[in-house]
Amino acid sequence: MNLLSPSILSADLWKLGEDIKAVEGAGVSWLHVDVMDGLFVPSISYGMPVLKAVRSHTDMFLDVHLMIEKPERYVEEFAACGADLVNFHLEATEDVEGCIEKIHATGKKAGITIKPATPAEAVEPYLELVDMVLVMTVEPGFGGQKLIPECLDKVQVIRKMINDKGLSIDLEVDGGINLDNVAFAMEKGANVIVAGSAVFKDDIAANAKAFLNRLQ
Ligand code: DX5
Ligand code: ZN
Repeated sequence: MNLLSPSILSADLWKLGEDIKAVEGAGVSWLHVDVMDGLFVPSISYGMPVLKAVRSHTDMFLDVHLMIEKPERYVEEFAACGADLVNFHLEATEDVEGCIEKIHATGKKAGITIKPATPAEAVEPYLELVDMVLVMTVEPGFGGQKLIPECLDKVQVIRKMINDKGLSIDLEVDGGINLDNVAFAMEKGANVIVAGSAVFKDDIAANAKAFLNRLQ
């Protein structure tokens, strides 16, 4: 199934609830929550309190993207704060399997994420263990950047690995996705589409609906 996961990094935090209700009302079921620690990526976004607040007001599926060093320190806490799926970066930990196990022990889904410079092959050993692979299509850290087309070649390679192994896990892309390139990302094999700045601007509900139409 194809899904849209709007990133609230580009929402107006002053009226976050309103912005989330706009996408929910448009028929979106997932929400992407970007957590940055100022170490793994140069910026700092938000963490547990914001996730908790969102969780307490919506039943949407919360797709949390941890851009933090040593995610094993915090994966359980993010699950407890309301994440339905916790994505962490392969580059951020020396204990990928331990991290996956910790997430699954909470009953939540686990995702592994790779930056643009990390080869597709890096995810292969873990494909049987995870619920989703997230391929960054920009350098993580900021919304509103331009998609790096070469990253979509990795999506194609990973989709083939998933199919060859007979798995049915999700493959998500994140960064620089807009209405003009979303079809291309899906052609390459992505089925979960993160979009921040292309959704949370002007008429948010109309933007979300336009994406949903293309995802059918
Ligand atoms: C970037 C984040 C993205 C970001 C996407 O580090 O992981 O989720 O919010 O924003 P756009 O869609 O504007 O590139
Ligand atoms: Zn993200």
